[in-house]
Amino acid sequence: MGQAQLRDSPPSNEAALGNTDSLELISKDLEGCTRCKLCNARKNIVFGEGSPAARLMFIGEGPGEQEDLQGRPFVGKAGQLLDKMIEAIGLSRSQVYIANVVKCRPPGNRNPEGDEIQACSPFLFRQVQLIKPEMIVALGKFAAQTLLQTDERITSLRGKLHSYQGTKLMPTFHPAYLLRNPESKREAWLDLKTVARELGIEIPRR
Ligand code: URA
Repeated sequence: MGQAQLRDSPPSNEAALGNTDSLELISKDLEGCTRCKLCNARKNIVFGEGSPAARLMFIGEGPGEQEDLQGRPFVGKAGQLLDKMIEAIGLSRSQVYIANVVKCRPPGNRNPEGDEIQACSPFLFRQVQLIKPEMIVALGKFAAQTLLQTDERITSLRGKLHSYQGTKLMPTFHPAYLLRNPESKREAWLDLKTVARELGIEIPRR
């Protein structure tokens, strides 16, 4: 096959669909997904939810037990803390968009593995491309490392603004980590205040 033919061939990757893409199409592409081994034990695919016009997007790691049961992101204990973090900067859950790096629960809440992140992250990238948030908050190491394509630790990534394909990105601690390490909430709050400032949101008095 010649070079020209190679260049002209239709895109084989779903992510290459460009401006014909939609959240509905992404969700449809995930129906019955068997692209990685997480399909074996999942009960529900957790696509993500929120406003498709959100200025701010929160990206977590992957569904836990409650999320797997309900098919919704961040509805367990960590989700309750995430709701408080969102409200602390004067927003509500319905105003933002919440998604995860992997859409199916890693068994026993283990960390997602490299092959699983590789199989699933294109769907997240498509969600970000469609929602076009002004800013992304990467919750924890897996979201931050996947979006920024780095091995750096969350402790060195957090607290500074980064860029994901031209979109401002703030890495911060995952709410589940904050539940185990409440002394780190102070740093997470500093990160959220930076996010609010960048979005021109006045922080409500507490
Ligand atoms: N932790 C995550 O990273 N995502 C969820 O949806 C729930 C818990």
